[in-house]
Amino acid sequence: MRSDHNDKIAGNGLGSILVTGGAGFIGSNFVLDWLAAGGGPVVNLDKLTYAGNPENLASVQHSPAYTFVHGDICDAELVAKLLQEHKPRAIVHFAAESHVDRSIVGPEAFLRTNIDGTFILLQAARAYYGTLEGSQRESFRFLHVSTDEVYGTLTPEAPAFHEDTPYAPNSPYAASKASSDHLVRAWVHTYGLPAIITNCSNNYGPYQFPEKLIPLMIANALQGKALPVYGDGQQIRDWLYVGDHASALRVVLQSGRVGETYNVGGGNQRSNLEVVTTLCELLDELVPESKFKPHVQLVKYVTDRPGHDRRYAIDARKLEGELGWHAEESFETGLRKTVEWYLANAAWVESVTSGAYQQWVKQNYGGRGGEDAAEERTTIAAGEGSR
Ligand code: NAD
Ligand code: DAU
Repeated sequence: MRSDHNDKIAGNGLGSILVTGGAGFIGSNFVLDWLAAGGGPVVNLDKLTYAGNPENLASVQHSPAYTFVHGDICDAELVAKLLQEHKPRAIVHFAAESHVDRSIVGPEAFLRTNIDGTFILLQAARAYYGTLEGSQRESFRFLHVSTDEVYGTLTPEAPAFHEDTPYAPNSPYAASKASSDHLVRAWVHTYGLPAIITNCSNNYGPYQFPEKLIPLMIANALQGKALPVYGDGQQIRDWLYVGDHASALRVVLQSGRVGETYNVGGGNQRSNLEVVTTLCELLDELVPESKFKPHVQLVKYVTDRPGHDRRYAIDARKLEGELGWHAEESFETGLRKTVEWYLANAAWVESVTSGAYQQWVKQNYGGRGGEDAAEERTTIAAGEGSR
């Protein structure tokens, strides 16, 4: 599927795409994947918040097919100018505030970027689309990259989220993404903007900022710091390797139907505790000389996240059946690749975790009993949660 699709894109001779938030985790993986697949020129508009890192794209920074623009999606003038100048054949919208815990501590930035920013982008896209004619107008797409969190939480036995599951966002982050999805839907319905929405489950892989579960646990374990498991650790997430998300987005951009939503997920439901213990086992194997072995002894149960969603699971059959996409990585192969990447890229982790990151760690973990308590190790045993 992947190579046929790449050939089509490489040979189509169409113009550039405008990517927003391309210096973040998924955006940078997408840009690298897109350029490697010969997808055509990319213009990357990114504000470079704490989560954005131009280093992620160092390997393509001198490529004539790559243009970086340091700016805010809320800057309507800049967005309009970029569309005029580059006349992209698509906008792929990743830019967002993306961390649930940060949205609980400070929701304002989430409303501004995720809702206002998407509104500004939609208005600019609408004006630009109005100037297009013929095949350019025919093929133009606005791809809105969203999350499964808009659907709320599932009970253990409930069927996985499908495209018709009612929206029930529970965190400020999820509410802001749900709002942005609704705006996109309305711009399709009312103004005829040719947009498509994707709702994806939890991603993991290279370049993920170590505030999120998997890279945080790897980084802490390597330093002998506590591994802070929220609540009882039995919350379930459905994990997808980021490269598989990138391939899904390429397929949707190429063949997705306008006005439709596609759920994206890898069918890998795991409890947080399972994820953390698997990571510990991988680290025991891959860093045999570590003085913190067995790494599982670093697990520490800490106060739960307020409003913590219990379970997410994605039904991706529409994307698989209609567009022929399939995830290539299993959770086991993807997780091993990811741990190996973090081991080989300690300098990257070091560079993104200096400065303001330390402040965040204090703010998020300070009051919940998850400080850097290497000496306070607790062994992992059933029912040991200290909530
Ligand atoms: P991220 O936090 O790693 O990156 C976000 C990027 O957006 C950063 O480069 C940041 O600098 C940029 N940005 C933030 N505000 C901006 C603004 N106002 N203007 C321009 N750029 C701005 O996020 P991510 O994990 O890569 O997620 C990307 C998108 O995918 C988000 O929309 C998120 O909701 C969605 N998503 C993420 C996941 C996941 O598991 N990480 C899963 C499903 C969907
Ligand atoms: O489901 C898709 C979403 O996945 C994306 O839309 C979000 O942008 C992305 O951040 C992610 O949200 P989560 O809240 O699921 O991801 P996070 O990595 O923050 O947490 C995963 C699970 O691990 C969650 O149940 C909370 C738990 N957790 C997280 C951290 C950071 C812990 O137990 N300890 C921690 O220190």
